[in-house]
Amino acid sequence: MKLDMSKSLYEQAVTIFPGGVSSPVRAIKPYPFYVKSASGSHITDADGNEYIDCCMGYGPLILGHAHPGVREAIAQQLEKGWLYGTPTELEIRYARKIQAYFPGMRMLRFVNTGTEATMGAIRAARGFTGRDKIVKIEGGFHGAHDAVLVKAGSGAATIGVPDSLGVPADVAKNTLQVPFNDVAAMEETLSAHRDEIACVIMEPVMGNMGPILPKDYYLRAVRNLTRDYDVLLVLDEIITGFRVSMFGAQGYYGIEPDLTTLGKIAGGGLPIGVFGGRKDIMETVAPQGGVYNAGTYNGNPLSLAAGLATVETLERERVHAKLKDRTTALGQALTDMMRHLKLDYTPVGLASMFQVFFGPQPENYEGALKSDKARYVEFWRRMLENGVFLMPSQFETNFLSAAHTQQDVDRIVQACHRSFEAMMTGPGTR
Ligand SMILES: Cc1ncc(COP(=O)(O)O)c(C=O)c1O
Repeated sequence: MKLDMSKSLYEQAVTIFPGGVSSPVRAIKPYPFYVKSASGSHITDADGNEYIDCCMGYGPLILGHAHPGVREAIAQQLEKGWLYGTPTELEIRYARKIQAYFPGMRMLRFVNTGTEATMGAIRAARGFTGRDKIVKIEGGFHGAHDAVLVKAGSGAATIGVPDSLGVPADVAKNTLQVPFNDVAAMEETLSAHRDEIACVIMEPVMGNMGPILPKDYYLRAVRNLTRDYDVLLVLDEIITGFRVSMFGAQGYYGIEPDLTTLGKIAGGGLPIGVFGGRKDIMETVAPQGGVYNAGTYNGNPLSLAAGLATVETLERERVHAKLKDRTTALGQALTDMMRHLKLDYTPVGLASMFQVFFGPQPENYEGALKSDKARYVEFWRRMLENGVFLMPSQFETNFLSAAHTQQDVDRIVQACHRSFEAMMTGPGTR
């Protein structure tokens, strides 16, 4: 595979950007491919190689790249200007649409990234309760701010810095950690710090350690425990919102949190974050209350237009059912392949999320860390050589989009087969 142009661009980039990239997950070794263009389910690099994309911008592009309806909505908004610094009717229209699917978000705030959304939600939880401590799940990723960069998943786990330098010990001490799927550990922590904890923040399906699914009773048990101990529950649905179902994972599993965060799909591929929830909590947010949140770009009209067009398309075209069928078929083909090739790797998926764990199916962060990361990297590289761009880390989730055809799925399965066979017989690239 020819990657000369990408290599030469990267050689320039390393002299300008730390690690050569604008975000750590992109620092693929020995160098990332540079993108020229993308359309539908395909992405083309600077050297002209074309791949089936299962990264989809790390999740937002559920309709595929350059979806015509979303492009049209952005174009129409562009005609009217793209930043005003005053409210728009679009904010209300989109907020009402979000509330139709996330009825627990009785009041909400539009911000610009998922990071800002979780930061705002945690601050609101702290302001409302007057408590400093929060509980997060080991390996959960909620963006790149101090309170949550403690045992964080995603890129932080991949490059081995789950506990970031620069986070003051005084801040980190207020972030308590519990393993996913462990009700007893959650109860122990809530009980040991009674009246000190503002909120539990969690991804209902862990997307940043590969997809790790909640056990049947787990989310319900966490909801009951947080109520019993008078602690707020924040569901971070930045990956799962509009992904697991139109109603997110909270609708799928039937859990109503006190606060919800959205991002990714909610912006249709343009930057967005949303936090919202119970009215009494959200009324503490400025200017109504004393919990400060502000932003020049909050409620950005381009992001709102792209997000609303995406949600309306999902709604109108009933995309989730189709996507679920495609991803289930892919998962089944991979499971059959493992059996046939006598490999003990584990395909895992939910809705349009999927991943192959190089080891047994994990229940939590500790289990995920046991999977063979080096083997995943080898698999990833061979998949790329076979024309499929997967998430470059074992600790991420791959996505199918509405633009992925059955033919794409067949090609992904063939590429997996070729990659596994080559890994079994050929020299490793480890
Ligand atoms: C669950 C979750 N929360 C928060 C974030 C942060 O979102 P952003 O990258 O938009 O800041 C991410 C990003 O991947 C995420 O997966």
